[in-house]
Amino acid sequence: MTRIGVLISGSGSNLQSIMDAAQAGRIDGEVVVVISNEAEAYGLIRAAECNIKTAVVKHTEYSERRDFDAKLVRILQENRVELVVLAGFMRVVSSTLLDAFPERVINIHPALLPSFPGTDGQAQAFNYGVKLAGCTVHFVDEKVDHGPIIIQAAVPVLSKDSKDDLKSRILSCEHKIFPHAIALYCAGRLRIKGRRVLIEGVDESLLAEQSLISCPGLD
Ligand code: GAR
Repeated sequence: MTRIGVLISGSGSNLQSIMDAAQAGRIDGEVVVVISNEAEAYGLIRAAECNIKTAVVKHTEYSERRDFDAKLVRILQENRVELVVLAGFMRVVSSTLLDAFPERVINIHPALLPSFPGTDGQAQAFNYGVKLAGCTVHFVDEKVDHGPIIIQAAVPVLSKDSKDDLKSRILSCEHKIFPHAIALYCAGRLRIKGRRVLIEGVDESLLAEQSLISCPGLD
């Protein structure tokens, strides 16, 4: 079983989906520690309710990013974490963390990268007027929202949508693909080849048939 450490900053709904999947045996791993940079993050309560160890490391108490990251690394290593999952963690991580966990840090971003990196990806996509939005799970490297992509899922943007409608459609999607990507990692089925992540043992024939994902009004 892979020992998973989850970093959060807020509500922790993705954390919940990961804990639920692990609990249900859909991930061959267990969340052993949850760390938040915000003391009030609701995700800390979710973790405590699942009897998972929690820690708060306030970024405001560190003037250097690498010192903040070194503290995170210490806690992760003390808990013998093998995979670090950024689940709504709103801090940019440095080489201090990445060097301690090479190719073992993954993130979810609420947009179809490389479009709309950074904060509020859903609002950026909505304001741009895209017809397809979505979310991306990727390995983390030293550039923001940039590392090799593990999995993406697209959702339509409907004409009646508000920004919040789109945000919640994307979030429901995140709750499906994030635990799935973590399950693939824990099963040892991901291979990084340059910018590509190959997933071993998947049947892509259905995907190949769905080559046109969304085009309203086309017969
Ligand atoms: C999620 O939408 C996640 O994709 C996003 O924050 C939200 C956290 O929700 N992450 C980022 O924007 C990172 N750049 P949650 O706390 O309910 O999981």
